[in-house]
Formats: sequence, structure tokens, C-alpha cells
Amino acid sequence: MLIIINTKSMTDNFSHWDKVYTTKKHNQVGWYQDHPTISLDWIMQYTRQSDAIIDVGCGVSLLADNLLAEGYNDLSLLELSKNAIEAIQKRLALEKDKVSFYNQNILKFSSKKQFKLWHDRAVFHFLTNPDDQQTYIQKLDDYLQKDGFFLLATFSPDGPIQCSELEIVQYDEKKITQLLGQSFKLIKTTTESHPHPNGGTQEFNYFLLQKQ
Ligand SMILES: C[S@@+](CC[C@H](N)C(=O)[O-])C[C@H]1O[C@@H](n2cnc3c(N)ncnc32)[C@H](O)[C@@H]1O
Repeated sequence: MLIIINTKSMTDNFSHWDKVYTTKKHNQVGWYQDHPTISLDWIMQYTRQSDAIIDVGCGVSLLADNLLAEGYNDLSLLELSKNAIEAIQKRLALEKDKVSFYNQNILKFSSKKQFKLWHDRAVFHFLTNPDDQQTYIQKLDDYLQKDGFFLLATFSPDGPIQCSELEIVQYDEKKITQLLGQSFKLIKTTTESHPHPNGGTQEFNYFLLQKQ
């Protein structure tokens, strides 16, 4: 099932992302990973196969394919770009009973579902406006179960200041825990030097936080 709820606005950056996924090969976008090792390891360590998991701003990531291969059966994939979500929906057509697809801006997300784990790799860091950051955090709080996990990857202070030619906010442990406040406890963090397909590396920080 594909649910399309796209209200275009300046903050959506909808056409930017749709253009990226039309003009670039999917394995040549800067954030491409053939094996999302850290995300996969942490998800498998902290959740069960039947837990509800959402990948926010999934793009065309192979994380869902890997989770399905590990027996996960309640995945939600949310993505702003119609091209990207249609591509991933086509790729996972045989697994459609285990995956819900949302073509939506996370800032407008609403759901009857509560998730055990909320995954975000290189999406939250695009929110440079404090109001948008707070809207996102409110959505996270609304739809993440108590004791649920927020697995977040952002560019680190040693990484680039832009991603896909858009301004981003770099996060370290202090900055993310201050922003999320008392309602989230940091469980662990690590770094990743992500190899860019065109050469060079991008420094990421990964954070695993638990809702209190
Ligand atoms: C840098 S890519 C990362 C994609 C994926 N998470 C991965 O690790 O391969 C950022 C993705 O977030 C999506 N995105 C950006 N802003 C969004 C928003 N407000 N709501 C939903 N998706 C968004 C973009 O379309 C893009 O696919």
C-alpha cells in the first residue's frame, strides 16, 4: 500500500529530492551504502523481528531489504520523494504485506501506529529551522513507544556542512542530548567514515537514544 500525502511548500524541498532520484543513479548518491552495517547491527541488537520499525526519509536505502532478509515483518518506509518511494516500493513488491510506504513529509506525518524503533540516517540534519526541529521531535514523541529507540545518524562536527548541496546541522553527543532533553536517554554512540562514491569520506555520528 502506498499512501501519498504531499502538500508542497517551501520547506518540503520536494522537487530537489525528486530531481536527485531522477538524475542520479541510485548507487551514486553521496549517502549510498551497499550494507548499512551500524544501523542493521543496532536494530538487530535492540529489537525483535515482529517490532514495528519506521525508516524516516528512507530514500532508496537497502536497510529495509536487509531487515526483511533477517525476518522483520512490520516495516514502515517514509520518504518525501515520489520517485524514490516508488522505486523502493517496486523493489520490495514481493514483500508488500510486511511493508507500508508513505510518500510524505515527516513534519506532516500522522499515524495510528506506535513504533518500537525510529530510524533516521541523514534526514533530521537537514532541519536547520528550530521550529521544524521541534515539530520533528514532537512527531517522534507522538509515534515512538515508551522505551522505544531513536536511531539517528547525522554528519558530525568533523563532517561536511552541506549534504546534497543543502545546508545541514552537524551533531555531536552534547548537542543532540541537549536538543532532545530529559525524555531521551543516550544508550550509545559511534562514528562512521562513510566513503563517498565520488571519492573522499564523510564523517557521520550515530546515536542510539531510548525514550524514557
Ligand atoms: C541524504 S538522503 C538519506 C536517505 C536514506 N536515509 C539513506 O541513508 O540512504 C535524505 C533523504 O531524506 C529525504 N527527506 C528529506 N527531507 C525529508 C522530509 N522532510 N520528510 C521525509 N523525507 C525527507 C530525502 O528525499 C532523501 O531521500
